[in-house]
Amino acid sequence: MLTKADNDLLTQVENDAPLGKLMRQYWLPACMSQELPEPDGDPIKVRVLGENLVAFRDTEGRVGVMDELCPHRRASLYYGRNEEGGLRCLYHGWKMNVKGQVVETPAEVRREGAEPKKIQHKAYPVRESHGFVWIYMGDEATMPEFEPPAFANGTNPRISIAKINLPCNWAQIVEGGIDSAHASLLHSSEIRPTGNTTRAGLAETHTLTRPSVDKAPRLHVHRTEYGMRYVALRTPITNPETEEYARIATFIAPCIVLSPPNGTYSTIQFVVPRDDVSTSFYFVGWTDDQTEGEGVAQDVWRARMGATVGVDVDEDYWPLRTPANRFLQDRTAMRNGSFTGVRGIANQDSMMWVSMGAISDRSKERLGTSDAAVAQFRRVMVEAVKAFARGEPPIGTVEPRTPHRRIRSFEGVIPKGAEWQTLGILPE
Ligand code: FES
Ligand SMILES: [Fe+2]
Repeated sequence: MLTKADNDLLTQVENDAPLGKLMRQYWLPACMSQELPEPDGDPIKVRVLGENLVAFRDTEGRVGVMDELCPHRRASLYYGRNEEGGLRCLYHGWKMNVKGQVVETPAEVRREGAEPKKIQHKAYPVRESHGFVWIYMGDEATMPEFEPPAFANGTNPRISIAKINLPCNWAQIVEGGIDSAHASLLHSSEIRPTGNTTRAGLAETHTLTRPSVDKAPRLHVHRTEYGMRYVALRTPITNPETEEYARIATFIAPCIVLSPPNGTYSTIQFVVPRDDVSTSFYFVGWTDDQTEGEGVAQDVWRARMGATVGVDVDEDYWPLRTPANRFLQDRTAMRNGSFTGVRGIANQDSMMWVSMGAISDRSKERLGTSDAAVAQFRRVMVEAVKAFARGEPPIGTVEPRTPHRRIRSFEGVIPKGAEWQTLGILPE
């Protein structure tokens, strides 16, 4: 449980909220590259940390992310024309390039020979990499180098992204991502126990296989300079006296979760607050090298997660399952063996996250042993927010530090009592 004050620190990002200020010190995903598929294509609306933005890809393929409202008299640029190297407001034709510089003001009378006035619209620095458009919303004087994400090592990677916008606060989504215990219950209908201890993962069907039926994992938490890792140890089906089934999840501040890999691919989650009460959740399945057929195709990945556009989410990635339609929960299916009555792992998760309310009131909880990692995540972030507010550097930015590309999670059967803290971390 958290005090009301700490719950606010953990959850609020809008305006001058201390967490919002901390999050602005990092490069954050604004949208997927595929949402801007072609030069001079349709602009899209993006909302991050309480700001309404518009993103567009210009004639040369560069991406701009700027304040949605025109610098002239604040009409929405979302309806503008994307043409010849900039986004043109429909109202009086002002045109902004990807850097936010106003390059044309056709309705303005200029004295002969006078230089055009230099007007700068609010636009954020952009990098495009690994399927995402990243923006930096902080002070440009302290802008860090763009750091490729944890899946940046591969020579021939396959990166599949499931995106879901959710009507709830970011922290309850991160807590779901690092909460190992729920998988054996909430996702139990999608998990098939197996005696095969060499490789867990996804079977041909949409079912997860795991070499254990233990529903009460023992959690050990390890704090790191970038956040935290923890292992959930379960008794395996085979060799229960000498071995343990280990699932390691990792939290990289401020908003990245690496859950344990699934057979031939790994997963990473970017949990980006749109504002205090809604979140863009990106669930990525990736492999370093797809030459051996490893990895997962995007449509398969989305179907598996329950994040297919037109089936599970609408064109703007909002879930079609909502409290208003009872998340389309099928009680007959539950009577016939489905644990939740809802198909798809992400659909099951989002039903729980959204059901907690827009911002969960953590002062009323009763935490148990299975919540050790969740409690540690909260401590890490509340302390990081307070430290940054005191003037200390943002969490994870002080050398020596582990580059994100070396940080991986892990799953597998290990000897009982084995050192687990460095499992999955790649060498220099
Ligand atoms: S409001 Fe955009 S050009 Fe006038
Ligand atoms: Fe889950």
